[in-house]
Order: sequence, then structure tokens, then C-alpha cells
Amino acid sequence: MRVGSAAMMDRYALLGNPIGHGKSSFIHFAFAKDTGQDIDYIALETAIGGFVAQFDAFRGGGGRGLDITTPFKLDAFACSTELRDRAKLAGAVNAMKIEGDRAIGDNFDGTGLTNDIQRNLGCPMRGRRILLLGAGGAVRGAIMPFLEQRPAELVIVNRTIEKAQELVRIFSPYGSLSASTYEALSDQPPFDLVVNGTAASMHGELPPLPAGSFAPNGLAYELAYSKGLTPFPHAARNAGVTRIADGVGMLVEQAAEAFEWWRDVRPDTGRLIEQLTMPLM
Ligand code: ATR
Repeated sequence: MRVGSAAMMDRYALLGNPIGHGKSSFIHFAFAKDTGQDIDYIALETAIGGFVAQFDAFRGGGGRGLDITTPFKLDAFACSTELRDRAKLAGAVNAMKIEGDRAIGDNFDGTGLTNDIQRNLGCPMRGRRILLLGAGGAVRGAIMPFLEQRPAELVIVNRTIEKAQELVRIFSPYGSLSASTYEALSDQPPFDLVVNGTAASMHGELPPLPAGSFAPNGLAYELAYSKGLTPFPHAARNAGVTRIADGVGMLVEQAAEAFEWWRDVRPDTGRLIEQLTMPLM
């Protein structure tokens, strides 16, 4: 919170491009108020190609921690002097803690998503059939936390099947998962949880998912957020799914993980998610 002199407060920032609509600042200030922490938090729109300079300036100015969003998660990975296991496996860093010369990189995206699905949305993953759409950074970050929940089945479906197969190769030492094309899904029973981690929504497009892939009593989760009704939730609704969520819960939950890591205190997330959730229809 901006109480007293900002120069005296521990400073945190979001680096991204774009930096969204100030949601991260709003979330961290709400956490700070809730837990009585005196922090400063700023969102820094960072030029493409300008991550290292921005990072160095922030660190040089005494900054204590960073959230990192698109498209800099790989740059943050490269700038980290130490990587926690989750970040290593995700191949990307979405949060950093700065301690003197140390810049420790972690990745809370997958944990935030798992927490939102299980704790907030009440959808247990253990023993369930889970389908992940896409094979980019968002999906890669979700695989390990998903496998830790011991689903009955975890299928990665992607337009370019080779990318899904590569993820299966990387993660198969940690649990059972498989790759599929969209066409081959027609032969599969429905999934209890379908997570859209593709970039399709950003372009108003819909991955070619058979309607039968959705279990009507299951959960459909769109990783993008605040976009109103994207084609994916619409397709889920048409397939009879009643439980549909977007990524705002994941955004708040991953921020809570970072906040706890930085400040050693766990903020409450439920009320904030409710406040930030926009109706999907
Ligand atoms: P991010 O790192 O944000 O996850 P990315 O690495 O660009 O983004 O990955 C985007 C993912 O969305 C990819 O899996 C991509 O499929 P391909 O690997 O076949 O390109 C997927 N994607 C993008 N647009 C899509 C669409 N219209 N239908 C289905 N999948 C799509």
C-alpha cells in the first residue's frame, strides 16, 4: 500500500507487454491491505527486446520481486540466477524474488490453475479424465501440477501433434500422459475437465474439438480471462456443460502464491476472485 514514503517500502512490479488493465496491481494492493503489508507495486509496460534493461534497472533500484507476463517468461527464465524446480520443468518464469545478487525464478501458473480448479471451483482432479488443449507455454506450465493430482488420464491435444508429443516425452518420467490429434478425440470418451490453453481465443477462433469431448457434468476452463464469451465457453455451453470458468481465478491464485513467497503471509483469494469475475454470457 502506498502509505508513508514509497522510497521506504519494498517494491514489486509486473513486467509485460501488454500489462493488461491493472489487474495485477489491483490484486497485490488488495492482498497487501488484507494482510497488513506495506508494499509498493507498479506495472511496467516493457518494450519488446527491452526486458533485460528493465530488469536491471528495477533490480538496481532495490526492487524485491517481479511478476512476469507475456511475452517475457523466457527472458525471465534466462535472467534468473537460480531456478526453482517448477520453473525448470515449465521452461518459463512468471515470478522472481530478488535477494542481493540473487534473482530466484519460479513459476506459479500451473499451481494457481490447479488451486482454482480444485479449491475454488470444487472440481477434484484425482482419478478424473483431463484434456489439455494446446502445447505452448501455458499448457507446458500446467502439466506437472496436473500430474501431481494423479488424474486417471491426461491427454494433450494440439493442431501440431509433434509439439504435444514433445511435451509427453518431457513429462512422461513424472506420470502418465498422452498426445492426441483433434480428429482422434472422436474415439475417446468425454473428459471431466477440458482446459483451453491454446491461443485460439485471442483471435476469436475455436480449436476443432468434437462436442462429445465435453462431459456435461464436467468443467470447461478457458485460460484467457475477461474476454466475455469466447468461442470456447460458447462451444462448451452448446455441448451441455454447465460449469464454465475463465482464467481470472488462476490469475488471482498465482498472484497469491507469489505474494506468499515474497511476504511470508497467505492472502485470501475468494472475495477478490468474485469481485473480478465477469459473467461469461
Ligand atoms: P502460449 O505460450 O501463450 O501458450 P504459444 O506458444 O504461441 O502460446 O502456443 C499457442 C498454442 O495455441 C499452440 O498450441 C497452438 O497450436 P499449434 O502448436 O498447432 O500452432 C495453439 N493454437 C493457436 N491458435 C489455434 C487455433 N485456432 N486452433 C487450435 N489451436 C490453436
